[in-house]
Amino acid sequence: MKRVCVTGAGGYIGSWVVSLFLSKGYMVHGTVRDPCDETKNGHLKKLENAEERLHLFKADLLDFESLCAAFAGCSGVLHVASPVPLHVASTVPGSHTPNPQVELLDPAMLGTQNVLNASLKAKVEKVVVVSSGAAVMVNPELPSDMELDESFWTDIEYANSTQNWYAVSKTIAEMEALNFAKRHDVKVVTICPSIVIGPMLQSIINATSLLLLSYMKEEGRSGGDSMEDIKRPYVDVRDLCDAILLLYENPESNGRYICSAYSLTTKEFVAKMESLSPGYNYPKIFTGQSAYPPLNSEKLLKLGWNYRPLEETIVDNIKNYEETGLLEKGKPFPSTITF
Ligand SMILES: NC(=O)c1ccc[n+]([C@@H]2O[C@H](COP(=O)([O-])OP(=O)(O)OC[C@H]3O[C@@H](n4cnc5c(N)ncnc54)[C@H](OP(=O)(O)O)[C@@H]3O)[C@@H](O)[C@H]2O)c1
Repeated sequence: MKRVCVTGAGGYIGSWVVSLFLSKGYMVHGTVRDPCDETKNGHLKKLENAEERLHLFKADLLDFESLCAAFAGCSGVLHVASPVPLHVASTVPGSHTPNPQVELLDPAMLGTQNVLNASLKAKVEKVVVVSSGAAVMVNPELPSDMELDESFWTDIEYANSTQNWYAVSKTIAEMEALNFAKRHDVKVVTICPSIVIGPMLQSIINATSLLLLSYMKEEGRSGGDSMEDIKRPYVDVRDLCDAILLLYENPESNGRYICSAYSLTTKEFVAKMESLSPGYNYPKIFTGQSAYPPLNSEKLLKLGWNYRPLEETIVDNIKNYEETGLLEKGKPFPSTITF
């Protein structure tokens, strides 16, 4: 039977990757840091087919041997795990990370090296590494309306100087992953998603879901009724997972792939949410105007990727927040980070 390992199985994207590969008939190994933490990982055991085909392994990215044990017998690794600080989508990315080397850089960079070396040792055929749009677009020289493809890389010096440690961690990790593939007998493909949205399977809210929730809850906004009008690129988590599966299964996949569906300003996004689900505490005033460059997913589309309409993502996302109680009146915003 086809067998793959998903690192960071309990996280937002990891959970959906596990769910998709289970639904496609794979035996799935999932790495989590604490298999006994039911709050963090309990949802995985409830996924369809999990009882028969999901095996959780306790593994840390900085512990090479733990990764080797998880990858044994697998022909593929979907490397999703990497620290994503809750403030990553806020406008001050660096200021909340007191020890970036330990909190972000080591797990992303050494962690990816460990994943690749462990994959080599386990004779894994293909590794799909989840990188980020943050490895593509952080560069002050780029005009904000210029569409970026896979040839663009974040300016690491600039990201360092602005303490954008997340971007630094993802850029160096991805560069090293692609270089590793040139030196060793393992196929490595990377994918750079934009801001990932859509329903959550896990119970602890992740960074980008927090951003979306702040569009609906005033307690999540430092400006109360007002919010910065930032043009951002987005992709649905389920479409991203389809792309990861496509890159894994398609023998033609090669190198780096951007994965992004839409670019919208906060004002445009909120207007869509409000038209589909009125009555929530949406911002009314939109200040300033800035933009992340749009990302071009042509290479992935040519390989056969597709994505759902934004309306579907928003409807499913809001339903998920309603069902999990996040939108209940009086329920506090689940983080001290505001947007
Ligand atoms: N969400 C987005 O918009 C977005 C966009 C582009 C790229 N990405 C990338 O997608 C991946 C997953 O992000 P996410 O949004 O799903 O975030 P998430 O829910 O916070 O998941 C992060 C995962 O990484 C694991 N992890 C962190 N440090 C680890 C370590 N030292 N050893 C083992 N596991 C570790 C976490 O495990 P624990 O549960 O044990 O903490 C968790 O499972 C990341 O690589 C991120 O850079 C995300």
